Amino acid sequence: MGWAADRSESTATVIAFNIPVQFGLKAEKDLSVFVEEIVSAPAVEQDVCSLDNYLAQPDHTMDERIALARAKLGKSTILLGHHYQRDEVIRFADYTGDSYKLSKIAAETEAKYLVFCGVHFMAESADVLGRPDDPPGTGQQVILPDLNAGCSMADMAEIGQVEDCWDSLMAAGLSPDEIVPITYMNSTAAIKAFCGERRGLVCTSSNAGKAFDWAFGRAEKILFLPDQHLGRNTAFAMGIPLSEMVVWDPYQINGGLTPARLKAAKVILWKGHCSVHQRFLPEHVDKVRAKYPGIQVIVHPECRWEVCQKADALGSTERLIHLVESAREGSMFAIGTEIHLVNRLAKQFAPQGKRIITLDDTGCLCTTMYRISPQHLAWALENLVEGRVVNRIQVRDDVKHWSRVALDRMLEIRA
Ligand code: 13P
Ligand code: SF4
Repeated sequence: MGWAADRSESTATVIAFNIPVQFGLKAEKDLSVFVEEIVSAPAVEQDVCSLDNYLAQPDHTMDERIALARAKLGKSTILLGHHYQRDEVIRFADYTGDSYKLSKIAAETEAKYLVFCGVHFMAESADVLGRPDDPPGTGQQVILPDLNAGCSMADMAEIGQVEDCWDSLMAAGLSPDEIVPITYMNSTAAIKAFCGERRGLVCTSSNAGKAFDWAFGRAEKILFLPDQHLGRNTAFAMGIPLSEMVVWDPYQINGGLTPARLKAAKVILWKGHCSVHQRFLPEHVDKVRAKYPGIQVIVHPECRWEVCQKADALGSTERLIHLVESAREGSMFAIGTEIHLVNRLAKQFAPQGKRIITLDDTGCLCTTMYRISPQHLAWALENLVEGRVVNRIQVRDDVKHWSRVALDRMLEIRA
């Protein structure tokens, strides 16, 4: 099956955000000429199936191909881009955002195909929140251009380990009524379902505090998965002392904790972390403050507690961007988050006299976000143009139900 070129007004609107800048076009008039040209260009004989053909090509040769495929797909498809994506990829996104914002868009869009330029757990969540295939043929389909784009933090909690943890908590004398599980969005759909089924919910870095409030309205204790840092930073900000938090180590018997410690704890934190954000250290904060008096240090709450305590503000990627946007001219920031976002902000806000540096310049790169390359994106889109859905992310129906419950609870509490 082939896709007809969609030259509707909305197609032009979709690509208007991205293409003119990239190709140096000046106005919408230029854009329509450009779209006309690329859509009517003679088809080139090529094997759109084989990813290898794409991987052998340099990045810049993908630009026009992505733009052309994007234009042909029109309203049927949206491209979602997380803020950690590479510039060569995110410039094609119809929507950019943090994980909360992107999940909301996924839940609301009418598009049939969602191409997720992000990582696996984000695409899984989009599939859970998408329109079900009922009647058949009407459902949405989610594509992750590279299936290797995972998240090392999400991999730190496996469903079997989490079930064992829960059983051990019950065996230690806790009752299901006194504890609510919350999982960070950065987890598998199976863990989201686990939480949904046990009166719990999902949160992101932009609504973790609200999720904690919600849970404490229903139980005395929280089990927080899988990021100990986000859990600790959130609980501490609510006034819970560190002495009332314990860390559950899935590789130790009973999590390495005695029943007495579990009974006394208000928050049980899973021993997981983000290997990117864990690189930021309190010494880095001291160093930039000494070197640049007056600098503002803003960090993602996946950073260690000691770093967050020294920072001026914490926030999800979307909030970090907002903090820079709303600062006055001449402000200077050291940002503790993934390097692509920091570099992009530095470039974007330099003309406004705002100076932005990374909190640690040893390279805090999320290698899995980086897996989504222009070649993978072109491959996924050109296959879609030919009616082939590659790298579809599909959550099993039995897992879908309860993970949707947990995600819906999160969407109800908002960001
Ligand atoms: P945000 O939801 O803040 O974008 O964070 C997602 C993430 O994976 C950060 O490491
Ligand atoms: Fe996962 Fe960390 Fe990468 Fe975010 S930055 S996707 S938490 S590994």
